[in-house]
Formats: sequence, C-alpha cells, structure tokens
Amino acid sequence: MNSMIKRVSARRALTRSVRMMLVLSVLGLMCVEYYAPASEPKQRARIKIDVERKIGEIDPKIYGNFIEHLGRCIYGGIYDPESELADGDGFRKDVLDAAKQLGVTILRWPGGNFASGYHWEDGIGPKEKRPKRIDLAWGAVESNAVGTDEYIRFCRKLGTEPYICVNLGTGTWDEARNWVEYCNRKSGTYYSDLRIKNGSPEPHNVKYWALGNEMDGDWQMGHRSAEDYGKFALEAAKLMKWIDRDIKLIACGSSHFGGDWVEWNRTVLRYLKDHADYIALHTYLGNRDRDYYRFLGSTTDVEKRIKIVEGLINETMTKTSRQTPIYIAFDEWNVWYRAWIDKQLEETYTLEDALVVAQFLNCFVRNAHVVKIANMAQLVNVIAPIRADKSGMWLQTIYYPLQLFATHCQGSSLDALVSCDRYEAGRFKDVPYLDVSCAHDPASGSIVINVVNRHRDEAIETDIISQAGRVADKAMVFEVNGSDPSVENSASAQAVKSIQKQVDVGGKQQFAYSFPPHSFTVIKVKMKMD
Ligand code: AHR
Repeated sequence: MNSMIKRVSARRALTRSVRMMLVLSVLGLMCVEYYAPASEPKQRARIKIDVERKIGEIDPKIYGNFIEHLGRCIYGGIYDPESELADGDGFRKDVLDAAKQLGVTILRWPGGNFASGYHWEDGIGPKEKRPKRIDLAWGAVESNAVGTDEYIRFCRKLGTEPYICVNLGTGTWDEARNWVEYCNRKSGTYYSDLRIKNGSPEPHNVKYWALGNEMDGDWQMGHRSAEDYGKFALEAAKLMKWIDRDIKLIACGSSHFGGDWVEWNRTVLRYLKDHADYIALHTYLGNRDRDYYRFLGSTTDVEKRIKIVEGLINETMTKTSRQTPIYIAFDEWNVWYRAWIDKQLEETYTLEDALVVAQFLNCFVRNAHVVKIANMAQLVNVIAPIRADKSGMWLQTIYYPLQLFATHCQGSSLDALVSCDRYEAGRFKDVPYLDVSCAHDPASGSIVINVVNRHRDEAIETDIISQAGRVADKAMVFEVNGSDPSVENSASAQAVKSIQKQVDVGGKQQFAYSFPPHSFTVIKVKMKMD
C-alpha cells in the first residue's frame, strides 16, 4: 500500500466527526468519546454531460502511431519477407491486420532518433543497390530494404495517412525539399521522375512532414540550441513549402520537460510562427518507483504541458498575421521505463500501463481543440501494442484502450462535469479517482463516456446525468480490466482485453453505473430524439 496517499474523503470524514463531537458536547450528551465509523462511506461520483458544451472537434489523427528503424519494429515487425506470414511485398499480414483493427489514422516514419541520421536517397531504387549504413542513433546496421516507397505502400495497405520526419540533424535543406519533390510532385522534374522510374507513377501525396526529431535533446544527432534549430528549421520549412504549398509542417517542440523547456517552445514558435502548422510534444511515463497511485496521477503532467504550450501558441499568434491556427502534435507518447536498447525497447505492458494509456487519450480528447495529431510510440515490438515473432503476433494490454478510442470516440469533445473523491500522491495533488473524457458524435447521435477508475480497490458508483435530454434504453459498454494492475499479456494468455456488454440504462436523463476498481470503461449510448 502506498503510505503517501491521503484520501481527501478521509479528511472530510474526520471533519464530520469533530463537528459531531462539538455538537454532542454542547448539548451535554457526550459521555463517551465519539469516533467516526472506521470504514468511510462509499464514494458516489457524478458525471454531467451536456452536448452543447463543446471543447472542440476531435481530429481522428489523435489516434495515430509511429514506426521507426529501431530494434524489431520495421525489420521483423511490419516487414519480414522471409516469413511465411508475409505478403508478396514482404509485409507481415498478421501484423497488418492487427494494425488495421487498431484503427491507426496516421503513421509517423522513419524515426525518431533514427531520422536525424537518415539520408532518404539511400532507401530508394533497386534493393540490391541500396547501401548498408551505420545507424548512430541505435547502433545498428541499416539495410535500407525499407525506404520511402515501401513505407508508402505499407500506409496504403493499412489505410493510414503518411507522416514523414525529415533529417534536420545531419541532413540538409536540399535533402528535405528534394524528399517533398520525390513524394509530391507529379512529374517532369528530377526527383518526381525518379519516383516514377522507381515504380510509383502517381505522387505519394504526403501531407504531413516533421521538421526533425527531438532537436532539443543532446542525444540527438545534430542537436541544436533553440535559436539555431529555429533558424535552421525555418529555412527548411520555406523550401519544403515552396515545393508543395499544401503540406503541413510540424516543428520540434520539447521532448523533455526539464530545464528551459518552456523557452525552447517559445523560441521555436517565434521562428516558425508563419511556417509551422503544429508544434510537436513527446512524453513517456513510467512507474519507476513502483507507486501505483503516483503513476496513475502522472498524466496530470501531460495535461499541464498541453495547457502551457497552448498558452505559448496563443502568445505567438498575437505576433503573426497568419489566419490559420497552430496546433499541438503529440507525436510520441506512451509508457516506457523498463526495456532499453539492450532489450530492443521490447516493453511488456501491464494493466496499469493500459490505464495510463487510456488517460493519455483522455487528455488528448479533453484538449481536442488544440491537440490535433498524436502518435503512440510505437506500433510493433518496440514499446508497442503489437508484438510479433516468427510464429505469430499477440496483443499487449495497451492495444485495447487505443483501439476503443479510435473505434468509438469521434465527433465533438464535451466539457463534462466530474465530481468525485480525489487523492494526493507525491507531487500530484488533487488527482480525481475518475479520469473522464466525453464525446458527442452527431453523425451517429451517440455520446461516448471514457472513464478510468484509478481506485485500486474500490468500485465507484456514479450518477451519469445527461443535461440536454434523455438517453436510449440500452448502452454498449466496453471494459478493459484484469485481476490486478500488474497483470500482463503474453503470446499464450490475454489476461487483459476489452469485454463488451449491453446494459440497461433506463431511457431517462440519468442512469447509474459502477466503475470497477483499476478499470477503463467506455459507455456508448444514443441520445433520444424527443
Ligand atoms: O520512440 C523511441 C525514441 O524515443 C525515439 O526514437 C525518440 O524520438 C524518443 O526519444
């Protein structure tokens, strides 16, 4: 048990008992000492939803993912031409299917740290002629068997939006703009004709381009100060947009949140305010000190960072005449703290990790007005929801919350009122036991309520109140849970998965639902048209 947890409800119970003692002593009735009952009253929470209280439109691109040339993500993950499970292009059919079921809306590539040393021209043309290179990011040898055209083919098979990160570490402005030309120019120029020669007569039409990766980190090849990055990225941005004015550019925001991270973002926005369309943030969380409640409280930081960067964007917008907004692309996020490069970043995830993943997604939905792209890092094997080896693939715990969000949580994000008990864990104060986001999809007429019950031991009885009318008689409920927060999945056992059931919610404006301990629940119910 965590001794640092202080239940606010316990404090309230104590206050009540003191008050009772005072009343009794004033009345002269107290002959024995009075104590509050040992067990606290059961929590009862409230969630109020009003379809008119909109935060913003949920961009489906917040359900994105990421593949990097790292460990067994690409080679042995999505691509394994030797495998019996591969299709004619060398892509693993089972992995592709699992990725399709996950609902990946946008797929970032080729890194990550790898991107900062990658020269894209190594990865095009006849495979036997492609050079083998040393990748200094991860200490591997890159065969270049998968390059731009293979990546685009994979995106098309998956039905996902491509998103390329250019090399602003060891790369040049010319390389960046030539890559846009190769992908997006129809024909009649050196690079567009090269693409055609390499077997792609139609342009790849890559709309989303990142201006480098984590350039604020000294682990990055070509790491720069904010000023130097701002200047360098600005020139790359100009050239890339002059090749194709319809592309969207994502500038490197802060990848870590120590030191001068706020200043990094402010400076980058100052340089790129007229050219970047998004600023990228990265966050990995972990339960390093084995403290369940602190770990589940740690997404508080994610929300705080989003709010701070939103403020910086607003500040920047006062200094530009641009008419279009700048958004946040949370283009790397996940739980990651156990498996480093010696284990090829092959984390095995637990139920509590899946709850934190659901909370990340709740943060993105609650900030849907400003977070318009998000990419879980990564898709296969490397800190990933899908694991694959020679014999097949299996799904990690973190697969399920992302799949549920991508499948069900669309439309407008709603500003729900959540009233519940709170706890304190270390530096995370006032953490609500229920972490909630809501959405209304006018297309289907449904409201979706996404709830993590952070309480490890207690179910939380909750009144759910629709303020704008009655709901249908029945709701669909999806639950991700397991016997204990530490349970994990494996190739042979799915201890954590999502369970679906239909529940009677009574067709009125209010219904009650009990959220089980350490669970993630999605309630999907139609609004009544009356
Ligand atoms: O996703 C793994 C690594 O984490 C990425 O290469 C890098 O961008 C981040 O530091």
